[in-house]
Amino acid sequence: MKGIILAGGAGSRLFPLTLVASKQLQPVYDKPMVYYPLTTLIESGIREFCLISTPHDLPRFRQLLGNGKEWGLSIDYREQAKPAGIGQAFLIADSFVGKDAVTLILGDNIFYGGDSFKRAFAEFKSGATIFGYQVHDPERYGVVEFDEKGQAISIEEKPKVPKSHFAVPGLYIYDNEVLDITRNLKPSARGELEITDINVAYLNRKQLRVHRLSRGFAWLDAGTSSSLHDASAYVQTIEKRQGIKIGCPEEAAFRQGFITLEQLDDIATKMPNCEYREYLCSIVKEAKR
Ligand code: G1P
Repeated sequence: MKGIILAGGAGSRLFPLTLVASKQLQPVYDKPMVYYPLTTLIESGIREFCLISTPHDLPRFRQLLGNGKEWGLSIDYREQAKPAGIGQAFLIADSFVGKDAVTLILGDNIFYGGDSFKRAFAEFKSGATIFGYQVHDPERYGVVEFDEKGQAISIEEKPKVPKSHFAVPGLYIYDNEVLDITRNLKPSARGELEITDINVAYLNRKQLRVHRLSRGFAWLDAGTSSSLHDASAYVQTIEKRQGIKIGCPEEAAFRQGFITLEQLDDIATKMPNCEYREYLCSIVKEAKR
């Protein structure tokens, strides 16, 4: 399974923060936003990544994440010259995906809690798997409607009158058919290749699974100044209370067995003195006991 991280867009709702650094590079408490979706996919067992961003921002992402080798990953980079919808990511990353299945995560989606994703990835065989999460403002998202048996029966993009309170978060798992489906997709009225239209195509083929995420699960959106602040506060609260970090790719890579304890030790030792280094050192120490 290949992984695409879509980190494009102008981030206009975060202006003037985004004048110098893209939205997905902004700090969410103690680390850059993109660390969170990257970690979510590492925890799900993904090692091969393609990060898509604007020509302007791509060099910064390369500077931050490199080729991924240090973390036992491979990270390719592709440009999205003009944003034309989430679906466009599959056209841009076509040669990266090759003949494999692929998961796409949005670079500003922050998830925390439970093992729903891990299970969904482990169970995935073919078709498409997406998720449903209860929100109070579904009209801002893709909205999925279920029948009384819990089967998805419709998905609509930002409906004025939502048929349910279940929004579709920005993590999608597809078989290789997604490439063909996207190639044949027509842009929507707003001129975008809509991810919702891809999901509807799978729904029409009866190949769409929608997992409902449980109440204790957190899905945070960090697209506005206020939600960015809320996301930071949430991460800080959990990290302080539990003494663990959310969205730490080095730790996730180690726990997945992508890097050895020695490699983790090496990464930590090379860092300047900071809380992040102390945290990694504490994991090394714990693992050596
Ligand atoms: C996009 C998708 C929407 C999805 C959301 C999740 O919306 O179009 O279906 O629910 O991401 O974050 P956007 O954030 O581009 O408005």
